[in-house]
Amino acid sequence: MNHSSRRAMLAEMGLQSWRLRAKQAAAPVAGPCVASAATARPDGVAQPPSALAAPPVAEAIRPDVRQMDWNALAQAVRDCRACELCRHRKQAVLGVGDRQADWLFVGEGPGAEEDARGEPFVGQAGKLLDAMLAAIDLRRGEQVYIANAVKCRPEGNRTPHAHELAACRPFLLRQIELIQPRLIVLLGKAAAHSVLGEDKPLATLRQKRHALGQIPVLVTYHPAYLLRNLPEKAKAWEDLCLARRLMQALKEA
Ligand code: URA
Repeated sequence: MNHSSRRAMLAEMGLQSWRLRAKQAAAPVAGPCVASAATARPDGVAQPPSALAAPPVAEAIRPDVRQMDWNALAQAVRDCRACELCRHRKQAVLGVGDRQADWLFVGEGPGAEEDARGEPFVGQAGKLLDAMLAAIDLRRGEQVYIANAVKCRPEGNRTPHAHELAACRPFLLRQIELIQPRLIVLLGKAAAHSVLGEDKPLATLRQKRHALGQIPVLVTYHPAYLLRNLPEKAKAWEDLCLARRLMQALKEA
């Protein structure tokens, strides 16, 4: 990405103005993705792996779902009536992108626009997600797959309940098994809850390397949260930089 489009992306993420404010305070802030001396490790991970138990992927998938190829999975998601979210959906939203992607980003659940269009992250939060991807030289659909923890829109865009996350988890896990991403980035608490079984505050989950089976997992803020809490974008930028360093290390390993 050239310098001006990168600047445009950072501006879109709100990092440019944050940089200016921080410059006044003479603090080094959201610059290029480099590890600081305090946090650098050769594998690109800012802090030691968390002590979380890594939930196994395969065992957690219902045997019937485990047999499914992409077509069968898409059909099962379309037909699913496992929780009440199916009552209000226009359509189920499976996911979008490269089915052999290195990167998997997991959000919470479709909103109104996603429900109408059948694609994740196409509204305002999606624009920010695209900008976040672009800031680390990624594009939707190119080595990137985007999915959600639940495939049907929670009415009023509420956070999905635990039992709804649990009902949809086999589908998400099967997607992960089919894609076999090198790295999973969880966007927000609901995704962390679903994939890692973690219900801790997001601030304690980010900047740590988690795992789902053998697959490394990082956690960062949900773009919709960032739209409401602009100063947190700088932390999301740190998380993206960590993700990029980790991906580099994984490719070199
Ligand atoms: N928020 C999400 O978590 N997912 C979407 O697809 C859209 C908004």
